[in-house]
Amino acid sequence: MELNITCIPGDGIGPEIVAEAKKVLRRVAEVYGHQMRFTDILMGGASIDVHGVPLTEEAIAAARAADAVLMGSIGGDTTTSPWYKLPPEKRPEAGLLGIRKALNLFANLRPAVLYDELAAACPLKEEISRAGFDILIMRELTGGLYFGERRTYEENGLRTAVDTLVYNENEIRRIAVKGFDIARKRRRKVTSVDKANVLDSSRLWRKVVEEVAKDYPDVTLEHMLVDNCAMQLVRDPAQFDVILTENMFGDILSDEASMVTGSIGMLASASLNDTKFGLYEPSHGSAPDIAGKDVANPIATVLSASMMLRYSFDLDREADAVDAAVKQVLRDGYRTGDILSEGCTKVGCSRMGDLLAERIR
Ligand code: IPM
Ligand code: MG
Repeated sequence: MELNITCIPGDGIGPEIVAEAKKVLRRVAEVYGHQMRFTDILMGGASIDVHGVPLTEEAIAAARAADAVLMGSIGGDTTTSPWYKLPPEKRPEAGLLGIRKALNLFANLRPAVLYDELAAACPLKEEISRAGFDILIMRELTGGLYFGERRTYEENGLRTAVDTLVYNENEIRRIAVKGFDIARKRRRKVTSVDKANVLDSSRLWRKVVEEVAKDYPDVTLEHMLVDNCAMQLVRDPAQFDVILTENMFGDILSDEASMVTGSIGMLASASLNDTKFGLYEPSHGSAPDIAGKDVANPIATVLSASMMLRYSFDLDREADAVDAAVKQVLRDGYRTGDILSEGCTKVGCSRMGDLLAERIR
């Protein structure tokens, strides 16, 4: 296959981890006989430094022209970086939100898996973690509070701010369909998470999800309130298969779910539109404190590249090879600092990339 991949190295550890993912992808191309062409674009702080804005029209066009986009991470230290002295719409995060919206990437898939090899890193009690878990958070990504009207104003001398949480039924339906479709390839259970005891948007969410569920009689649907879900994720994560939820709840729950795995440096994500196109990025942030030190864990980005092979290119065999290389490297005892445990060999970001690439067969 001929594949055009646009890369967004971004900020902080982004350039380092993307370089390792490219290394692994090049090896995949070599072993399986594909042609991969990589084009880098700027986004986030890196784009602000050059263009004064976090995302340019040219960058959007380059992303759109690609078969898929592979991203590292964007953003800096919010208390010290000059990027955060800019107005909100000019900060690094606005670039990420902008590209999600511009490319209509409404479906965000965030797997949270407990790896056997890393079970010791799981912060849950052993009697809970013993059951293992493999959760897929399906987060709506282009609606809700993130994209509703917002403003800050003064009323009767009081500083006041308002954000709006808005969803229409089409936005809910299309993400629900994605959620049920993917549940069919997994353990056939969808937990739809909302706050229907308080919010109108959640009551509509619940209704529309129930309508969609009628087309999937083979998939079990349950509803769960978001506060309860936050609690259940640490009480009994094994109960979940697909968690289907709106943008803000998904943002919060996916960080919680990733922490429960004990290894946020391992978690990939995919953001998809209604074609095969997607943007793939690790679930973690740009970790400016360790940037440029060759200590970051590139595995989440490598696993995001694997999701790209699977979801955008239908290259399941190649994706399986990448996933297997990750498991093998862990079995062989290699760890970056964030997942280090006794008796393992500590390696840096670049060496981890080499070790992974070597294991692609
Ligand atoms: C994420 C991040 C982003 C979000 C930020 C950086 C805007 O936290 O991808 O989860 O809130 O969506
Ligand atoms: Mg987040």
